[in-house]
Amino acid sequence: MRRIAVVPGSFDPVTLGHLDVIHRAAGLYDELHVLVVHNPGKSALLPITQRVSLIERAIIEAELPGNIIVSSWSMGLLVDYCVDVGASVLVKGIRSQIDVAYETPMAIVNRNLAGVETIFMLPDPAHAHVSSSLVRQVAALGGDIAPYVPPAVAAFLNRPLA
Ligand code: PNS
Repeated sequence: MRRIAVVPGSFDPVTLGHLDVIHRAAGLYDELHVLVVHNPGKSALLPITQRVSLIERAIIEAELPGNIIVSSWSMGLLVDYCVDVGASVLVKGIRSQIDVAYETPMAIVNRNLAGVETIFMLPDPAHAHVSSSLVRQVAALGGDIAPYVPPAVAAFLNRPLA
């Protein structure tokens, strides 16, 4: 039986913290889906297709394992995607107690909806302060985001505006 897991998120944009969790999770499962999901509670900077493309490029740059599939989902519940691909586990990165409080209700609802379990994973503490919202803010105000994101993302967000 193949062990299949999903790392879902907005990834707007993907950060080094996300990439760390993706790398660790890829070592634990036969197949790992990195799933870009629209979060209606957040106003997005990047279109979903762009977020997928940046994750794909970041995975290649970082030479992560070949068992990672990058995809997006806007057809309904996150657990519907999990059932479609045969995944029984969601993996979420946890930086602090605030993340635990945010993720716990979603984990319980996802388990109740479809029996999909959520695994909380601790990223490298070096990334504990990094978030996509912080990256968006620093980039918008002209600051250097290179310490927080994969090179592909830094190059894309620092590009001159057309
Ligand atoms: O990176 P984010 O924004 O914290 O990710 C949140 C996300 C997209 C994983 C969450 O909003 C989500 O699971 N959305 C899918 C909709 C869904 O299935 N909701 C019901 C169960 S929580």
